Amino acid sequence: MSLRGQGATIWLTGLPSAGKTTIAYALAERLRADGHRVEVLDGDEIREFLSAGLGFSRADRDTNVRRIGYVAGLLAANGVKALVPVIAPYADSRAAVRERHQKAGTPYLEVHVATPVEVCSVRDVKGLYAKQAAGELTGLTGVDDPYEAPAAPDLRIAAHEQGVHESAAALLALLSERGLA
Ligand SMILES: Nc1ncnc2c1ncn2[C@@H]1O[C@H](COP(=O)(O)OP(=O)(O)OP(=O)(O)O)[C@@H](O)[C@H]1O
Ligand SMILES: [Mg+2]
Repeated sequence: MSLRGQGATIWLTGLPSAGKTTIAYALAERLRADGHRVEVLDGDEIREFLSAGLGFSRADRDTNVRRIGYVAGLLAANGVKALVPVIAPYADSRAAVRERHQKAGTPYLEVHVATPVEVCSVRDVKGLYAKQAAGELTGLTGVDDPYEAPAAPDLRIAAHEQGVHESAAALLALLSERGLA
């Protein structure tokens, strides 16, 4: 099978405003230009449809991640590069997704977009850090809700020290190294 037809799930985990979505779309563009089939399963859109009704408790966050992992696995098993820029704060939820992929023999890569909270809270794309600071919101990942950083990700991206294109290039290099691009 050609590398272009080889599906895989690439999960980008990290804090709100870390750069997950931005980097995923930059990678998607490069992969599409190379002839890959790509789907981006973005957290916000998923929560509007597939996970409508779920909240932000530990149990609901876990359900959200497992559902997304299930769909990504289906896509990846059928030749799609499924890019998943979703916070996924809990290590055991992420491990469950990885195991499902392993059992199915579907390639799975975990990427930690490791922008520190000090930088994320300044970027604050959705104004969540400001709302939390103002007492208008609780349970913000990395501030007053847990974020369990991956201990051994396939790649860690310092998205506060390098530009978006550099991060996308690093991801492409990883895919190429693993025989996926
Ligand atoms: N080096 C960089 N890499 C990635 N994003 C950067 C970088 N420098 C600045 N940014 C900006 O930081 C913001 C990151 O927002 P983005 O929506 O990608 O974060 P996210 O991790 O998807 O957050 P959320 O979990 O809330 O969806 C964007 O506005 C992006 O342009
Ligand atoms: Mg996002």
